[in-house]
Amino acid sequence: EKIYVGVDLGGTAIKVGICDEEGHLLHKFEGPTETAKGVDTVIDNIEKYVRHIVEESPYTWDQLAGVGAGFAGFTNIREGIIILAPNVGFKDVPIRAILEERLGKPIKIDNDANVAALGEAWSGAGRGVDNCVCYTLGTGVGGGIIINGKIYQGFGGMAGELGHISVVPDLEAIQCGCGKMGCLETVSSATGIIRMAKDAVERGDRTSLSLVQNIAAKEVFDAAKAGDEVAIRIVNRAAYYLGKSMAAVSAVLNPEAYIIGGGVSKAGDILFDEVKAVFAKLTPEPLQRGVRIVPAELGNDAGVVGAAGLHLRS
Ligand code: BGC
Ligand code: NA
Ligand code: ZN
Repeated sequence: EKIYVGVDLGGTAIKVGICDEEGHLLHKFEGPTETAKGVDTVIDNIEKYVRHIVEESPYTWDQLAGVGAGFAGFTNIREGIIILAPNVGFKDVPIRAILEERLGKPIKIDNDANVAALGEAWSGAGRGVDNCVCYTLGTGVGGGIIINGKIYQGFGGMAGELGHISVVPDLEAIQCGCGKMGCLETVSSATGIIRMAKDAVERGDRTSLSLVQNIAAKEVFDAAKAGDEVAIRIVNRAAYYLGKSMAAVSAVLNPEAYIIGGGVSKAGDILFDEVKAVFAKLTPEPLQRGVRIVPAELGNDAGVVGAAGLHLRS
């Protein structure tokens, strides 16, 4: 029996999982990324966790047929290079060659949100859907486009960077980690939501939010659910630009479903209702027909399942 290991590299944690050929997640393990210690440590950690999870499992190293990995940044899959991952501190890292050399196994790499999309399409909210678009709303905003069951890669494998669609009007735009202005990520990520909350508190807006502890995005959602007007305005703003970007995506791709995952999606109806309303308002009616906007189903596992799936489904 063959197994595949999927790796999901994020800014704070590296998740690894063992999958079988049907995409069942058999084992998982998670350890710190240690981003602050630099690229070499992060790569050491990837190697360590992959070896560790196989050792701990009932499977042997020989059964490991391949390792797939998703990275939170602009990833050139043709050349196997992470070009820019501001949230992880990677720049021009030839990660595929490095991992191949260290692990001695076939390596496939892709963007973290692309692999999450593949995971959802394979065994999550996108099962049975041919064409879908996934957003992951976390530290950054990621995107993945599935066409006919496969990741749409574009030139070099960087298609689906939905977080860097510029949606905020110039006068209100701030700079994104990618260097450009007004990206969706600046308003619809957890980081963006927290920044908007801090700005509101610092401006002296009347709100139950405070800076006593560091605000987390969840506190903003809880305050919004409790009726705090400032928090509601922030959540609506995050939802508005997400819905607006989806209207643009629908005009280009006409997907059947939007799958929304990542920590921010846990806000639930308060976010989804507004996203749906904005999408309905800005998308031509024929492009709305039959289109579903649904939460991701695999949660934190989408990345590792999809990364393992790079060997089987791409
Ligand atoms: C990066 C994407 C990534 C997303 C989610 C963004 O800042 O540019 O490549 O998919 O964050 O991690
Ligand atoms: Na992507
Ligand atoms: Zn950007």
